[in-house]
Amino acid sequence: MTTRLDGQTAIVTGAARGIGLGIARRVARDGCRVVAWDRDAAALASCQADLDPALAQVVDVTDLDAVERAIAAAVKAHGRIDILINNAGVNGPTLPTWEYPPEAWHRVLAVDLTGVFYCCRAVVPHMRANRYGRIVNIASIAGKDGNPNNSAYSAAKAGVIALTKSLANELADSGITVNALAPAITETDLLKEMTPEFIEGRRRRIPMGRFCTVEEIANMTAWVASPECSFTTGFTFDISGGRATY
Ligand SMILES: NC(=O)c1ccc[n+]([C@@H]2O[C@H](COP(=O)([O-])OP(=O)(O)OC[C@H]3O[C@@H](n4cnc5c(N)ncnc54)[C@H](O)[C@@H]3O)[C@@H](O)[C@H]2O)c1
Repeated sequence: MTTRLDGQTAIVTGAARGIGLGIARRVARDGCRVVAWDRDAAALASCQADLDPALAQVVDVTDLDAVERAIAAAVKAHGRIDILINNAGVNGPTLPTWEYPPEAWHRVLAVDLTGVFYCCRAVVPHMRANRYGRIVNIASIAGKDGNPNNSAYSAAKAGVIALTKSLANELADSGITVNALAPAITETDLLKEMTPEFIEGRRRRIPMGRFCTVEEIANMTAWVASPECSFTTGFTFDISGGRATY
């Protein structure tokens, strides 16, 4: 039986746990060779028993040289990269903007926005040469709404939504689509940086009255990353249980 992503190769950033691991498992089930990236070597090693990626690379997405080297190694090993899932991300502290530490601001922007730029910058020439590609950026409902006490994260995710639109426009006639997902709060280790009040506040804003699940995000990502999603680019798919108003 052939599956939707048979024979394709996907890089998934932040694949060692949480949403990234869920996405990696899901696209692997659809027939994809998974190239798993994470900056956490120990977590990447321990996830391999259950993920069995084609290639696991310790990569910090804030290091452009490391990103470029890893893409070259992945292309050498597997011939082509069809899919890039920009998932790696951090939350940062939950504090009002006027108390937000500048070093935390820079860290969150570096991972959540500049990291996405670096990975896109490095993979797009390769996809353009193949005249095919699917880039899926995991943004957040915070990038649309601007969560209080979460300004760096919200600003970075709004930046990812805008970057998605710009790059999609640049690549519209190239066979490459660039889309984003805007999930609502999901129970993963990302919540460790949030206060219980902040988490409960975010959950209360979801009309469906529950957290998003990793599987729901993985299922939507797998479709957006597939050849079936062929006439949508520059779009941010909602996955917020009814919270999004646009
Ligand atoms: N959990 C949520 O509520 C939620 C909601 C909306 C969007 N998101 C987004 O989903 C994505 C995944 O989040 P998660 O909840 O699975 O978080 P998580 O903390 O469980 O996992 C994040 C993974 O990214 C890796 N990572 C972090 N910085 C990295 C870097 N510089 N280079 C490479 N890898 C790095 C971590 O080691 C970890 O394995 C993030 O972009 C996050 O912003 C999460």
